[in-house]
Amino acid sequence: MTSTADALLEARDLVKVYGEGHAATRAVDGISVRIAPGELVLVTGPSGSGKTTLLSMLGALLRPTSGEVIVGGVDAAGAPAGELPRIRAQKIGFIFQAFNLLEALSAVENVAFAASLVPGGSLRAALPEAAELLERLGLGHRLLHRPRALSGGEKQRVAIARALINDPPLILADEPTGNLDSHSGQEVMMVLHDIVRDEGRAALIVTHDPRIEEIADRILWLEDGRLRDRKAERHDWVRDPVCGMRVDAWTATITMDVDDARVVFCSSRCRERFEMEPGAYPGSAAPGSLDPSDADEGRPRAEGASS
Ligand SMILES: Nc1ncnc2c1ncn2[C@@H]1O[C@H](COP(=O)(O)OP(=O)(O)OP(=O)(O)O)[C@@H](O)[C@H]1O
Ligand SMILES: [Mg+2]
Repeated sequence: MTSTADALLEARDLVKVYGEGHAATRAVDGISVRIAPGELVLVTGPSGSGKTTLLSMLGALLRPTSGEVIVGGVDAAGAPAGELPRIRAQKIGFIFQAFNLLEALSAVENVAFAASLVPGGSLRAALPEAAELLERLGLGHRLLHRPRALSGGEKQRVAIARALINDPPLILADEPTGNLDSHSGQEVMMVLHDIVRDEGRAALIVTHDPRIEEIADRILWLEDGRLRDRKAERHDWVRDPVCGMRVDAWTATITMDVDDARVVFCSSRCRERFEMEPGAYPGSAAPGSLDPSDADEGRPRAEGASS
């Protein structure tokens, strides 16, 4: 079996350079990625790190400067321009931050319209299936509403139904929760999660939202157009002086400044106990971090003030 056989999406050595000469920007700089059926992969990283550029190339919306993109067995990067709309319509469901619904059409028509983009498809013929999809997404009572009469979370669920109407193996989403409050955002992510799990599709979702990281099978972290291995990320292990638990001072948020040192806690409960009786925890304000190798032994310690 070749490596592509069990992947829904495979990209090899993708590069995108915008502009030329001094003005050239290497937005994506040699990224390879494989996604299997049933996998939900998040892409995250700072603004300008190349997330949208990567997603656009994976979705055949943008031609790579070099590299390959194989979607559902089809070479999207090498296909002639005339073939691309059909590949996109059949293989990929897109979901965008801005919903991109057509204001002149009702919710159910917006969904069915996407079916008219594949050869032999028609809006009219797809209406019953579009209605069924919307019902499954909890919008059975909103079929005839225009986009402007829907809430943000409802609009995004219409966009999800639109992405699914042609039964694509791959879903690509660029910050699908970016315009939603946290409750609607969570709901939209759970819908995507269930669709991927239950229907064996694959999804690649660009997000800035760390709260939705839990539902991902994998997280790709982008920096300056390259993938960074999160396992190789910096850690700075210290002990919570109260309970002795190992805490990563690099990412810890529950801290307290004592003299010249920053003390790091596993929870606010430990910090409260420390505040009530700081003298009870000897060595707690001593600077120095914990080596990962002695992580399971040792006495309570605190991290030095310098970062
Ligand atoms: N059409 C373009 N022409 C020239 N440069 C571009 C173009 N699109 C993006 N860039 C540049 O490429 C880099 C990557 O942009 P991209 O939009 O992929 O980042 P991003 O990670 O999606 O950022 P954000 O989180 O802000 O959406 C940036 O430096 C950006 O300025
Ligand atoms: Mg972007």
